[in-house]
Amino acid sequence: MSTYDKIRLMQERKLAIRQGGGPERIQKQHESGKLTARERIERLVDPGSFVEIDAFVEHRSVEFGLDKMKMPADGVVTGYATIDGRPVYLYSQDFTVMGGSLGEMHAKKITKIMDMAMKTGCPIICINDSGGARIQEGIDALSGYGEIFFRNTMASGVVPQISVIVGPCAGGAVYSPALTDFVFMVDKISKMFITGPQVVEAATGEKVTAEDLGGALTHNKMSGVAHFISATEDECFAAVRKLLSYLPLNNMEDPPLCECQDDPNRLAPELNNIIPDNPNKAYDVKDVIRQVVDYGDFFEVQPLYAPNIVVGFARLNGRSVGIVANQPNELAGCLDINASDKAARFVRFCDAFNIPIITFTDVPGYLPGVEQEHGGIIRHGAKLLYAYSEATVPKINVILRKAYGGAYIAMSSKHLGADIVMAWPTAEIAVMGPEGAANIIFKKEIENSADPIEMRQQKIEEYRNRFANPYVAAARGYVDDIIEPEATRPRLISALQMLEGKRENRPPKKHGNMPV
Ligand code: HXC
Repeated sequence: MSTYDKIRLMQERKLAIRQGGGPERIQKQHESGKLTARERIERLVDPGSFVEIDAFVEHRSVEFGLDKMKMPADGVVTGYATIDGRPVYLYSQDFTVMGGSLGEMHAKKITKIMDMAMKTGCPIICINDSGGARIQEGIDALSGYGEIFFRNTMASGVVPQISVIVGPCAGGAVYSPALTDFVFMVDKISKMFITGPQVVEAATGEKVTAEDLGGALTHNKMSGVAHFISATEDECFAAVRKLLSYLPLNNMEDPPLCECQDDPNRLAPELNNIIPDNPNKAYDVKDVIRQVVDYGDFFEVQPLYAPNIVVGFARLNGRSVGIVANQPNELAGCLDINASDKAARFVRFCDAFNIPIITFTDVPGYLPGVEQEHGGIIRHGAKLLYAYSEATVPKINVILRKAYGGAYIAMSSKHLGADIVMAWPTAEIAVMGPEGAANIIFKKEIENSADPIEMRQQKIEEYRNRFANPYVAAARGYVDDIIEPEATRPRLISALQMLEGKRENRPPKKHGNMPV
């Protein structure tokens, strides 16, 4: 064979591999509203930047007739590419080849990519569309999952890991996405569950559709397994690219600094009117966030889950920040089990990847109730205390209104190591709200009064005037300054600049024992 023929042969073989499971299965994939593995990569990364590796890998299983089966690329496309010019490693499971099922060599391709990402300090993007463990390969398939989970854990906090679910993801396979930092799902296309609807019905008698059991809305709204929901795959890929724009490539780098035309000294006079005069009235904390951050652009994470706390990324003078804010519009901004879990995980992500944390506090307390207590609010709430205390990135807190009791401590208080705490003049920082406090400390006076209702109101006002303000905390130095709301943006930017060189050490230890 001539050299020319050898090159042609190689090209033909590559072309055949790129056909995946063939035209019929590709058509079926399209008919089910899904893109193919390679189309997904093309649409996600910078045009022409993807370099495939291990396209020629083949399985070596001989069980159940597999020795006669060709599986192009062994059902997974792996390689590296750039997104906005920055390197990423990625894999995309090919459902047209044996349902994207994961066998020994399929897993080896994935772990090779993960190892390369770790060696070079680059993010890993996993595009999941798979029937799970390739049943014919038995324990070899299971071992492959184990190798992936191990690497997910090793990579955690070293490089950002992003999972995109665009098809089935069932059984133990769900644990790779669960070990990564962010899970993206597409409405009506993605499904995640440990056991599918048939097994659920057989085991418990519960009838449920796959969509209700593990669809995108279920995991974004109810379980908190997923962080983002998109209407289409393209929308999902755009969201992945946007997320990456806030992140460093690895934990040794700072996040990218963007050029910013939004004036760092811009005042936001609207903020002077945002807190209602009536302390029991709600407002949308996202309006505060948008007024403060560059171009009003806030990239919210888990918007549908535990909406009583808001988390997400934004920029201040071009610098990435993570934002955590109580949402008075939902449950009055109370902290509950889900809000604590959501915020704690987000704080830990930011800390791992050198992203300063800005907190906006307006919290009346922890959500009372038997369900919360029996559900373990003590254990879950402790996660937030732990996460804030452990974080060594710059931590800045702006207390907008209520900051009561244990929830005051939990929300990035000075006592948990916040570097700068600012308060608006509307802040109420105290051990509890005036109503509750008056009922307890003035109980006898209220009971013995000729007009208990009037007396109670009087005592509430007395308490409010004395304690429901920022001045007591500021007098102790727990609040560094009380600022005009409109000046929040310039003050945050100035604080971030001042904290740029922050170095804080923690006692050496193997690792802490976070109350997970
Ligand atoms: C081998 C598989 C497969 C698997 C799908 N296929 N899943 N082959 N192992 N796990 C094959 C099918 O046989 C079929 O091949 C092709 O992929 C397409 O699948 P269809 O069933 O035709 O597609 P669809 O109707 O869309 O259904 C998709 C599906 C279904 C819901 C994912 O295929 C399914 O239920 N698969 C099995 C899921 C499962 O039980 N997986 C194992 C879980 S155990 P042909 O040639 O007929 O077209 C597990 C343990 C992991 O994953 C533990 C980790 C710790």
